[in-house]
Amino acid sequence: MPTPDAGLYQRYTQAIHGERLPLALVDMDAVDRNIETMVAPVRMAGKTLRLATKSVRCPALIRYILDRGGDTIRGLMAYAVEEAAFLLEQGFDDLLVAYPTVQDSDMRLLAAVNRERPCAAVVVDCVEHLERTDSAAREARSIIPVVVEADLSYRPLGGMLHLGVRRSPLRTPEAVVGMAERVAAFPNLSLKGVMGYEGQIAGVGEANPHSPLLNPARRLIKRLSVPRVAEARARIAGLLADRGIRIEVFNGGGTGSLFSTVTEAPVTEVTAGSGFLAGHLFDYYPRLDLVPALFFALQIVRRPDPRIVTCHGGGYIASGEAGWDRLPLPALPAGMKLLPFEGAGEVQTPLRVPPGVTLGLGAPVFFRHAKAGEPAEHFNEYLFVRGDCIEQRALTYRGYGRCPL
Ligand SMILES: Cc1ncc(COP(=O)(O)O)c(C=O)c1O
Repeated sequence: MPTPDAGLYQRYTQAIHGERLPLALVDMDAVDRNIETMVAPVRMAGKTLRLATKSVRCPALIRYILDRGGDTIRGLMAYAVEEAAFLLEQGFDDLLVAYPTVQDSDMRLLAAVNRERPCAAVVVDCVEHLERTDSAAREARSIIPVVVEADLSYRPLGGMLHLGVRRSPLRTPEAVVGMAERVAAFPNLSLKGVMGYEGQIAGVGEANPHSPLLNPARRLIKRLSVPRVAEARARIAGLLADRGIRIEVFNGGGTGSLFSTVTEAPVTEVTAGSGFLAGHLFDYYPRLDLVPALFFALQIVRRPDPRIVTCHGGGYIASGEAGWDRLPLPALPAGMKLLPFEGAGEVQTPLRVPPGVTLGLGAPVFFRHAKAGEPAEHFNEYLFVRGDCIEQRALTYRGYGRCPL
């Protein structure tokens, strides 16, 4: 876990002086470093990086990352059709909605945004997805690009164990390519590509201090699955070529698998988002050298005991399997700890203060969320901080009044 720089507390406190709390700040110097760290292996491998918007959720920051990433960061992976439509309105292009939807309102919107030209693809994994998408496209006289999703989980013991995410039912290369082949039968669909997300590699930190006994198993699962995932993708690419099916995009990976995914020849692009802001769950990936870039600041409002301060707010718990690693991490000043029986509360968060640290009422405490994108659901704006100044104020999706999911 990175040790917070002692000067950072002073720098951030100076930057936000006079602002109302709670607030969320983005350290743009840290974002710049993370962009370099994430882009370098992708550029070296001759691939591109598709930005996972769920892990940013702030249009100005998405724009900043795309601009700074140059030719290497291309395209956005959205998490909902309404979000993709909003991002198109904001001037973004090349959207891939990576989570299927079946409701009519989404289908109509997807068909409408693609009417002029293909600009927003959607992931599919079954014939019903193809039928519903095609029927909406036909009604709107448009063509919807689709991306077939492969299941890349690791399933040892003849499939009795499922290690990975539960997304696509297409488990074999033959099933994936069979689905890709079927797209041709739908006149208002076009096949854009194939996607596979290896969640058991990308989404699992193998140095998790909250459940250390599981770390050896996590490392083993990753070691065993990396070559299997590569083999599956190579077989999919081989079968597609054998059957003369051409694709534009073969998408894979996430921040946590960046280094292994970029080495695979068939992969044309990797998706990543979390690494730019580096929620604290990404401290648990030893190969990733990321800098914390997103913080929220709470005011200290009480001192119930000489060694405890209580902050106003703070209960921004991350999604996923519930546990201590999903709670916010008090980051600055260093050494503050959540209390075991209260955690991060709905309206108050008490913290144990380390010896030698004195904090008065009204002083800020800076926390990190476990995830990169979810804080945007709690704050209307992000303050972009450079040095000890606020460089820009940027609306989050919430600030725009958007709540796609
Ligand atoms: C399809 C897909 N690709 C990639 C990612 C990785 O995103 P990130 O780098 O933001 O963790 C995810 C995250 O859940 C995902 O669902």
